[in-house]
Amino acid sequence: MTNEPIPEMGGFDEASLDKAFAALEQQARADAAAIKGDEDVEAYRLQWLGRKQGRLNDVSSRWLKAAPAEAKKSLGQRFNALKTTVEQLLEQAAGSGPSDAALAAEAIDITLPGTRRLLGAEHPITRTMNEIVSVFAALGYSVGVGPEVETDFYNFESMNFPPGHPARDTQDTLVIANQDRRPLRDRLLLRTHTSPVQMRTMEKQPPPVRIVIPGKVHRNDAQDATHSPIFHQVEGLCVDTNITFSDLKGTLDHAMKALFGSSVKTRFFPSFFPFTEPSADVQISCIFCGGKGCRKCKQSGWIELLGCGMVDPAVFAFAAEKQPAYDPKKISGFAFGMGVERIAMMKYGISEIGSLFAGDMRFLNQFA
Ligand code: DAH
Repeated sequence: MTNEPIPEMGGFDEASLDKAFAALEQQARADAAAIKGDEDVEAYRLQWLGRKQGRLNDVSSRWLKAAPAEAKKSLGQRFNALKTTVEQLLEQAAGSGPSDAALAAEAIDITLPGTRRLLGAEHPITRTMNEIVSVFAALGYSVGVGPEVETDFYNFESMNFPPGHPARDTQDTLVIANQDRRPLRDRLLLRTHTSPVQMRTMEKQPPPVRIVIPGKVHRNDAQDATHSPIFHQVEGLCVDTNITFSDLKGTLDHAMKALFGSSVKTRFFPSFFPFTEPSADVQISCIFCGGKGCRKCKQSGWIELLGCGMVDPAVFAFAAEKQPAYDPKKISGFAFGMGVERIAMMKYGISEIGSLFAGDMRFLNQFA
């Protein structure tokens, strides 16, 4: 950009004026030709047309003022012509937009492949939970949910764990802090099982009930290969007139065959849960060795999978406080509860429960 000062005018005759203005015009054109981007355009404008320090302003103050009266008109015409030329040069430079180089730097190659959006997939826990639920949905069960932050009443008392009962100790409960001023039944905790939703369901609707309840539960358990403080269960409840233990056996035998294959056998072992009487643990024939005995089933040929039993009349008595139709003399029912992670781990051959919660894409991709 030209920045040599405007020279003194040698003389004000036509030839001198022509020469002086021609020199200026030549500089203005050279400067305009060197413009590359928006910043240069602005610099050019300031350099030539700036009100205080612009070169044309200098020309005006040095030459026009010094000119003798008879030369003023001729000089003024040349001045105006030069100004018009500079303004046109500026307009052309500004209108020409970014340089080719600038454009090339920003250009998008539309032939490049786009950013691939990964398709989502169900997490193996969700998938297993849905699979279990759909086995029961096909038997006419509806699906329910309940809160993860639960009261002592629903999690324990209404499920026939009286205050202070030792069975509560087996549940390793995580309680919400600062609840001591509330009555015990209203104190909040993280539900340790999905069973409280049995009571919430019965309070809302009279029998018959056939419902499955998938959900997350929490226990103060240290994590190891098969335990996690957060895990999932699917609860089931069936209440009607004349529901018997053989209905329970038939239902769960069918469900296990639907989940693990039709050659799977089931057997029921006596067990204890406060909310069922009698209670049972369900075992299935080992899906790894077919029942012959292997490391997975500790050579027994059987794998323990879920708890179940006939709904205890004490549980119906709590339900009857809100829904009198839950009269244990008139109705009966069964319930069951299974751990989703355990079933997922068996179905998919997962040996560490932690891999289900680690969020490692290399693991999860295998289920996509
Ligand atoms: N709530 C039990 C637990 O978390 C599982 C269970 C066992 C649920 C037997 C039931 C049942 O409904 O009948 O350990």
